Amino acid sequence: MTRSEDALASSTSDASLARSKARSAEIDLAIDQDPSRFRVLTGDRPTGHLHLGHYFGTLRNRVLLQDRGVDTWVLVADYQVITDRDGVGPIRERVLGLVADYLAAGIDPERSTIFNHSAVPGLNQLMLPFLSLVTEAELHRNPTVKAELEATEGRAMTGLMLTYPVHQAADILFCKANIVPVGQDQLPHLEQARLIAQRFDKRYGRVDPDQPVFRRPEALLSEVPLLLGTDGQKMSKSRGNTIELGMSADETARILKKAKTDAERLITFDPVGRPEVSNLLMLASLSSGEAPEAIAERIGDSGAGALKALVTESLNEMLAPLRARRADLLANEDHLLAVLAAGNERANAQADETLAQVRGAMRMDY
Ligand code: TRP
Repeated sequence: MTRSEDALASSTSDASLARSKARSAEIDLAIDQDPSRFRVLTGDRPTGHLHLGHYFGTLRNRVLLQDRGVDTWVLVADYQVITDRDGVGPIRERVLGLVADYLAAGIDPERSTIFNHSAVPGLNQLMLPFLSLVTEAELHRNPTVKAELEATEGRAMTGLMLTYPVHQAADILFCKANIVPVGQDQLPHLEQARLIAQRFDKRYGRVDPDQPVFRRPEALLSEVPLLLGTDGQKMSKSRGNTIELGMSADETARILKKAKTDAERLITFDPVGRPEVSNLLMLASLSSGEAPEAIAERIGDSGAGALKALVTESLNEMLAPLRARRADLLANEDHLLAVLAAGNERANAQADETLAQVRGAMRMDY
């Protein structure tokens, strides 16, 4: 890429980010006016335990959307586990753990649909027609796939890794979701899903001229607080710097006691100059609802020890009911399995209906 092309590419993506943000604000208003116009799809890979980054970043937002009356679908993306690993790991335990986290956080299985990839054949079958609608070059250009490949440190890219944005398009399109709450890094996947929906219509026409087979999903960019791990680095399970939802109050206290801070006794909220201290203030703020600046002022020159004690207390207090529900849920595996089975039944009914429309459009309905 030449320098000017480079500049062009980054300015276009700035412009499209600004557009996505503006559109997200419009969607947010439209939800308040009429939540029944929307169906949300979100999901997680069952690769480990959920931590505070997941909770404050996505889980809490899903519960809010559900409680505002939006039809919410939550996918346990079990086939996506093997995009970048050789095996599925302790998959059963992780899937059930994820379902328990969802329910404990407030996802209500009566109103929302919790389901998993491998139980919904119709969803996965969409992969075939969808793969015919994208080119190999296009897949290689996907910036998120590129970034994820770089993070795997020279590991060979599998066909599933290369094509997972198409599988993700199937996740979104099969259930006719029109909004997908995402972080910025997932925007290219949404664009891919929209392109597939458009190309499908263009190539196969519409059975009903007023009704495209697929909806055009849009991103709902959420204001996600940038939380760091307790060592001040990017929060990630592999760095051991996270606080998991399922940890005990004592474990939480122990981890926070070891959290990195700085030598300045006076506590101030300064995310750029004092990232570690500010991150702890942010955690206290997110769990108590009080502004980080106000918390800092209250602690004053009592130092990092006092700050850690306060964060520990407010986090443990906020998480206590969630943790209690989670423990109860995990003790009742049959209930978790029943929730998943009910969600999968709904997802299969929808997938079969969508697949019938796809076969109809493709004149494969013999
Ligand atoms: N890629 C998402 C993650 O790693 C999980 C996911 C799978 C997803 N399919 C999706 C998210 C469809 C949104 C829409 O967390």
